[in-house]
Amino acid sequence: MFSKRTNWNLTESAFARAMRRHRESGCPVLDLTISNPTACGFHYDEAAILAALRSPAALRYQPEPRGLLSARAAVVDYYREKNPSAPIDSEHLILTTGTSEAYSFLFRLLCEPGDEVLVAPPSYPLFEFLAAIQDVKLRPFRLIYDHGWQFDFAALAQAVGPRTRAILVVHPNNPTGHFIGREEAYRLTERCHEYHLALVVDEVFFDYELPSAGDHKERHGSFVFNSQVLTFVLSGLSKIAALPQMKLGWIAAGGPEALASEALARLEVIADTYLSMNAPLENALPELLAQRCAIQPQIRSRLETNLRELDRHLAGQKSISRLKVEGGWYAVLRVPALESDEQLAIRLLEQQSLLVHPGHFYEFADDGYLVISLIAPVEEFSEGVGRLMEGIDRK
Ligand SMILES: Cc1ncc(COP(=O)(O)O)c(C=O)c1O
Repeated sequence: MFSKRTNWNLTESAFARAMRRHRESGCPVLDLTISNPTACGFHYDEAAILAALRSPAALRYQPEPRGLLSARAAVVDYYREKNPSAPIDSEHLILTTGTSEAYSFLFRLLCEPGDEVLVAPPSYPLFEFLAAIQDVKLRPFRLIYDHGWQFDFAALAQAVGPRTRAILVVHPNNPTGHFIGREEAYRLTERCHEYHLALVVDEVFFDYELPSAGDHKERHGSFVFNSQVLTFVLSGLSKIAALPQMKLGWIAAGGPEALASEALARLEVIADTYLSMNAPLENALPELLAQRCAIQPQIRSRLETNLRELDRHLAGQKSISRLKVEGGWYAVLRVPALESDEQLAIRLLEQQSLLVHPGHFYEFADDGYLVISLIAPVEEFSEGVGRLMEGIDRK
């Protein structure tokens, strides 16, 4: 009856079972996996957001496959702020209902069933599903950690095969916080050129760059300004304006003009088939994007405070360390691998009522890693880190 691609193993994992049991017990849990900014105590300008959604222009139906021009113009302004001397063209933008739809459009554009896309784990857990639903295979070339995260370019060269169509990277990455350096961007572009691959760059966390101590690496800017190879940048309101519930993202296509125009013409047909944008949101986009000026300073301040708080807890002990974070909303902790990371996460939940992500959720190759959110409210974060350290000491 059903397609093989939906033959997922839907049995509950041990971690999911532990979470369900804990929930059913009614015992409150301290959640350090939280990634929903609307539940983290930030102040939103509610009146401005709601007023933007009430525009009378929403009463008109103006089907526009790439998205309303006025909405795309707001995205152009967002990038103009990053590089005033190199404005992007609104015709190079396709609005989507978030990045998941953008990924599905790109996989349909670039891949035949069974074709491959290179990804660099540990990374965004949804890739596996986004690719499988579109019959695309993921080929990993692992990020390595050596005084900071970096791409393994030798592994990348080995992973490229006759059916590879694109390299997909997250800039900065979730959850490692790896911010792509100038040199790495250059080498990625070179590899795409050499192997005739498209470059897909997920920049949803781009505005959350974090300073890291002793870092001499030159960081690369947004890939929307990449002109050498066919490049697709994905972003949207979910992180830029901390409004994931609005479900609005985009693809910015760039690179050699003839190739980018051809890609956009094809993407337009895909977008025209769905016409998934809705008028209230498209008309609200300029105001919703403008909200970033109010929300981003709050989030950046939270990230920096929680990182300092984490370091304060970690000082004076040696069994847990945090890996370097250059951007994004998460921190990776290196913990003693005396049990699997799933067993550790379950133990922390049962003994300390603390929820953290085991590293394998993000495809860390080995045990001994936990991922925690840096956007949790500061008091909860601090209490959670205290419980985490206590729980690890109890082993
Ligand atoms: C790397 C990455 N891309 C995309 C998203 C989701 O973006 P959207 O809500 O626009 O689909 C997330 C969500 O956490 C993410 O971590």
